Formats: sequence, structure tokens, C-alpha cells
Amino acid sequence: MTKLEKIVLSYSGGLDTSIILKWLQETYGCEVVTFTADLGQGEELEPARAKAEMSGVNDIRIVDLREEFVSDFVFPMLRANALYEGQYLLGSSIARPLIAKHLVGIAREVGAHAVAHGATGKGNDQVRFELAVNALDPSIKIIAPWRQWNIRSRMQLLEYAEKHHIPVPSDKRGEAPFSIDANLLHTSTEGKILENPAEVAPDHVYQRTVDPVDAPDTPEIITIGFERGDPVSVNGKSMTPAALLTELNGLGGRHGIGRLDLVENRFIGMKSRGIYETPGGTILLTAHRGIESITLDRAAAHLKDEIMPRYAELIYNGFWFAPEREMLQALIDQSQTFVSGEVTLRLYKESASVISRTSACSLYSADLVTFEESAIAYDHHDAEGFIRLNGLRLRSWAARNGR
Ligand code: ARG
Repeated sequence: MTKLEKIVLSYSGGLDTSIILKWLQETYGCEVVTFTADLGQGEELEPARAKAEMSGVNDIRIVDLREEFVSDFVFPMLRANALYEGQYLLGSSIARPLIAKHLVGIAREVGAHAVAHGATGKGNDQVRFELAVNALDPSIKIIAPWRQWNIRSRMQLLEYAEKHHIPVPSDKRGEAPFSIDANLLHTSTEGKILENPAEVAPDHVYQRTVDPVDAPDTPEIITIGFERGDPVSVNGKSMTPAALLTELNGLGGRHGIGRLDLVENRFIGMKSRGIYETPGGTILLTAHRGIESITLDRAAAHLKDEIMPRYAELIYNGFWFAPEREMLQALIDQSQTFVSGEVTLRLYKESASVISRTSACSLYSADLVTFEESAIAYDHHDAEGFIRLNGLRLRSWAARNGR
């Protein structure tokens, strides 16, 4: 094993990363710096400091990344209306490159040559962390304890904790917990009973959205303001990116918006079933499509829709910092120059629907589309020729087929 002087560990303070911390100290006999990111997971982070201190960590980094997460990662992705496999808003996928970026930044700052993460050997997250680190600093070594140590089961993990005097919370003593990943964009839940896609997910899986059946019987009307493709206000009140998403999470959660029960294809090769809750993100996707509907040219909008699955797949597979993602981003960003205005939505029992939209940069022309007499020069005979020429090849084809 190469001698390492310092390792920066992505550390949540939970049981798994506490064990990883101890294992790194023992295995490499070197200083471990912990990095804990506040991504709006809704967890107290100070306990992580206390736990790291107890494990003898001298350099403890707890960083509030909420604004950076939303403005530099979530919003650029929303400009693309990105969905993986048509449904998943990529809440976990988009957080990994940000965490990796800061792991690399801290490693450089403290002169560490390695970073470590607690992602398991079967998931997408290990791929995302490591591809991001590769792209940002190829000289940094990556340690993935779950792929390296001999611990193969939950039981062995608890035994290791016991042996090393790592406190195991009583609720972690029984069977394995759900695998939960939360941040300002979403909560994802996998594992346990959910591993059987034939089983209906129990109610207690849902953490930040009410059951639509219990959502208010009166709809709530909200207005979201956009500037150049990004949401900037709710009901006329300007907000920072993180504050805006937090506000919409509250509204969406109350109305049971943004639940998803999905079987998806992991990059690594297997199918997995998860429950996602993305209340604010779901509202924003609908609102963004609403403002784009009046501000984007048809061909521009369709081109965006064509590249979207590719762009979403790049993010899902961990290629955020790859050149092709940046190229697609440039295209998407350029399309947003005139995507400004306001969208009004109705939130009601699991749905967020656009009910009106306005923009100073609108391409919509009532004069052009109206059924009434119009002042704008539009010659109906043009439509006749347009259809005749488009129909030319269909008439040839049908005649040949003997229809
Ligand atoms: N399957 C989702 C994804 O790959 C969620 C992963 C959640 N991560 C976790 N450690 N529970 O994006």
C-alpha cells in the first residue's frame, strides 16, 4: 500500500462514514480530514463535528453549500428540463459533482493526495464521485472503503463498530435501514422492502410530501418569475436560489407534489427501484416549460428536447465535468437568453399545472393565431400550397402502395 500522508473524507457523521473514518485511520495510519457538506439535507450538522472530534480528527470542515448547489448545479440542469428515463429529476446525481469539487478543493488546500467516500460498490454514486475527481484533478487518489475492506454485510459492519467503540444508535442495531439520500432538491429512498418492485411502498417511506389524498381540498395559486431561464421570485418576492427552492419545497410538499416510484437502470448495469420526492423541482420543471412555451422558437425548443435525454444521461452517469456535458450546457444556456417572464400555477393534490404565462419577450401572437379577423398579413392560400407540397410524397407513396 502506498504511504499516504493525508486523506480527505466525505463524512456525514452517520454510522457508515464513522466506521469508514476509523478504518482509514487504522489502515493508512495517517491524518484524516473530514468534509461535511450542507446541501439542505435537513439534518443537524453540528453532531458530525462532535463525532469527528471524538475520533481524533483535527481538521473538520463543515461547509454550507446550499446556494452553490442550487445556483451552479440544480438551476443549470433545470434549464435543460432534464429527466432521466423520462421521469427522474436527478436529485442525487447532481449533488455528487459538487461534493467531489469540494473534496478536491480541500485536498489541494491541505496538501492531501487522496480523497475517500462512503458510496458502496454497487451504485451510481461511486462512479459519479470518482469520474468528477478524475476530471478535476487526475493526481488525486481515490479510496472507496466499501470496495476495499472485508466487511461484506451489515452484521460485520456492526461488529467492526463494536470492536472499535463506535457508538451504534439503537435504531441501527436491528435490520439494515433504508438507503436515504436527501438534499434541497430531493429525498431518495431505496433498499429493504422497496427492493421488491411488486411491493407497494409503505406510507412511512415518504418524508417531505403529504399523501395527495390528505392534501388540502382547496387549490393554491402561485406565480413564479423567471429571468434568462432561472427562477428568481415566488409571488413577486425575489429570492436567492436556495431560498426559492426551499419555499417551493414547502408549498409542493403540502400539496403532495413530486412523488415518484421508479424502477430505473443504473449505469453499473442493474435495475433498481426507488422512491423519490422532489416537490420544488417538480413545480419548477412545469413552470420552466410554461415560460419556455411562449419565449422559445419552435426549432430551438425541439432541439433542446432532442438533446435533453443525452444531457440527462450524462449527469446520471457521472459526466458532469466532461467536455460533452459542458458543450451541451453552452447550447442550453444560449437558448435561455429570452426565457424571462412569469408563470402562474395551480397546486392541487399531487399536481402543479400552468394556468397562465406572460413575458415581455413573448413570441406568442394572438393576432397571428386568432380565429377572428386579423390585421396581420396571413394569406390562407399559403397554407394550401404548404399542405399540397408536404402531401406530394405521401400521394406518390400511397399510389405506389395501391391504396
Ligand atoms: N438511484 C438514485 C441515483 O442513482 C439515487 C441514489 C441515492 N443514493 C444513495 N446513497 N441512497 O441517482
